[in-house]
Amino acid sequence: MNSNQEIERRRTFAIISHPDAGKTTLTEKFLLYGGAIQLAGSVKGKATARHAVSDWMELEKQRGISITSSVMQFEYEGFCINILDTPGHQDFSEDTYRTLMAADSAVMVIDAAKGIEPQTRKLFKICAMRHIPIFTFINKLDREARDPFELMEELENEFGIGTYPVNWPIGCGVDFKGVFDRDRREILAFQDYHRGQNKIKPIECDLDDVETLDALIGQRMRAKLQEDIELLDGAGYEFDLADVRAGALSPVFFGSALTNFGVEPFLENFLRMTTPPLPRQTAEDEVDPFAPEFSAFVFKIQANMNKAHRDRIAFMRICSGTFKRDREYFHVQGGKMIKLAQPQQMMAQERAIINEAFAGDIIGVFDPGIFSIGDTVCDPKMKVRFEGIPTFAPEHFSVISQVDTMKRKQFTKGVTQIAQEGAIQMFHAPNSGMEEIIVGAVGVLQFEVLEYRLKNEYNCDIRRRDLSYSYIRWIEQTPKKPDELNLASDTRWVQDFQGKDLLLFNNEWSIRWVEQKNEGLELSEFSRNW
Ligand code: G4P
Repeated sequence: MNSNQEIERRRTFAIISHPDAGKTTLTEKFLLYGGAIQLAGSVKGKATARHAVSDWMELEKQRGISITSSVMQFEYEGFCINILDTPGHQDFSEDTYRTLMAADSAVMVIDAAKGIEPQTRKLFKICAMRHIPIFTFINKLDREARDPFELMEELENEFGIGTYPVNWPIGCGVDFKGVFDRDRREILAFQDYHRGQNKIKPIECDLDDVETLDALIGQRMRAKLQEDIELLDGAGYEFDLADVRAGALSPVFFGSALTNFGVEPFLENFLRMTTPPLPRQTAEDEVDPFAPEFSAFVFKIQANMNKAHRDRIAFMRICSGTFKRDREYFHVQGGKMIKLAQPQQMMAQERAIINEAFAGDIIGVFDPGIFSIGDTVCDPKMKVRFEGIPTFAPEHFSVISQVDTMKRKQFTKGVTQIAQEGAIQMFHAPNSGMEEIIVGAVGVLQFEVLEYRLKNEYNCDIRRRDLSYSYIRWIEQTPKKPDELNLASDTRWVQDFQGKDLLLFNNEWSIRWVEQKNEGLELSEFSRNW
C-alpha cells in the first residue's frame, strides 16, 4: 500500500461523554469488532489497569477518576481507526479540549435516561468551535429511557444543530424490542442479541405489513413505530452528508453498548460518513494531509510515565505525509532539527515502537522537556506553524512559593514543566521576576496534582494561597499600556509565561466595568497561541 492509500483509510476521532454514559464500554466494543482485544472487560478495567501506568496517578486512584486520556489504534474492514479517548472528569476538561483539536470528528455518547449533561455540553462547544462532525450514540436503551423525540429536541435546541436519527428505538428497558433502520427499512431485533448472535441479521420491514410487524413487536409498539417514522420522515431533517461533514447535522444512533446492541451498525455508518484526515490550518495557509512532507503538532504531554526518569511523552497528531523513525525533523518553536526518540503507538493496550506512521495517526515520542502544547514538528522544507491550541481561561487561582528557599531552582523548573504540559497555567506579576508565581487551573483538583507532583517528582514542598479571582482575560487590543488602563481596585494585571498581558477579575461585573471605562480595550476568554 502506498502512503496516500494509507492516509485515505485513516479515521481519527475523539470519543466524548459525561462520565458514566458508556464511553469506555462503547470503546471496548469497537476494539472487539476490530479484533484488537479478545475479551470484553479488558479496556481499562476501572479499578485496576486504568491506573497502573504511573505513580503520580495514585492521586487519581484515590479519587476514582481518570486524569489522562489515551489513544488507541485498531483495524476494521480495511480502515485504520485512531480513537482518542477523553478524560471525563470536569476538572480535566482542558486536556479534553486539546484532544479534540487532534480529532477529525467526534463520537458523543449520551445516556438515554439522562440526555445532555454538563460535561457533554462543554465538550460540544469545542467541537462546534472547530466545526467538526459529531456522531451521537444514545446509549443504554436496555434500560428505561427518555422519549427519543424529547432527546432529539434537546440536542437540537441546546446545540443549535440538526439531528438525523439513522435508526429509531422500538421501546426501551424491559420493553426494548430493537431499532428500526430508516434508510434500509429494516429492524434489528434486540432479542437476537440474546440468542448469542454477534452479527445480528436484520429483518426486512415493510411498515405497512401490519401482520408481520404485530407478530414481531406487538400491536402497540407497531402502531407507535409507524407513527414515529411518519413523523420523522415528514417533519425531521433530511440526511445531507455535506451538512454532517460541516458539523451542522449530527447523525444519531440508538443502542446499548453493554449488550453490544447497535454498535456494529453505528461503526459501519460512522466509517461511511466520516472523512479521511482533513487539511489543517497553519498561520499562513493550510496543509494538505496528502502532501509528501511530514508535519505534526503536539496536543498532549503526559508526564512521568516512569518516575525515576521524570520522563514525558509528547503526543502528536500527524497532519501530513509519512513519519519515518530514522529521519530528523524540524522543531519549529525550538528552531532546531531533532530526532523523535522512541516513537510509539498504542494498539489497544500495548505500547509499540513504530518505524513509520501516516497523516491522521497519533504518535507518542519521548520528550526530554523541549516540547510545549501546540508545538509544530515538520519536514525542514515546510517550516509551517499550525494553528495553535487555544488556552482557555482558568477559573481558579493560587499564589505558590517553595517552602525551602534553597530549592528555588527545582521549584521553578517543576512549575514550568508542569505548565508546559498544560496541566496548569502559570502567571506572574509584571516586573516582579518569578518571585511569586500565580497558577491558574480549570478545576481545583489540578492544584492538588501540582502540589503532589512538585513534592514527588521535584522534591519540593510548596506553600499555596488561594486567590479570590474567578475570571481571567487575555488583552487582545489595548489603547494604552496595561498599567495605564483604568482598572477597578480589585482587578489585577498579570502576564503569562509567553509575556502576554492578562487581567484578573473577581466577577463578570468587573469585566464589563473595565471594558466600558477603556474604549478600544478588547479582552478574550482564550489565547489563540499562534
Ligand atoms: P464512561 O466510560 O462513560 O464513564 O462509562 P462506562 O463505559 O464505564 O459505563 C458506566 C456504567 O454504565 C458501567 O456500569 C457500564 O457497565 C454501564 N453501561 C454502559 N453501557 C451500558 C448499556 O448500554 N446498558 C446498561 N444497562 N449499562 C451500561 P458500572 O456498574 O458503573 O461499572 P461496571 O462495574 O459495569 O464496570
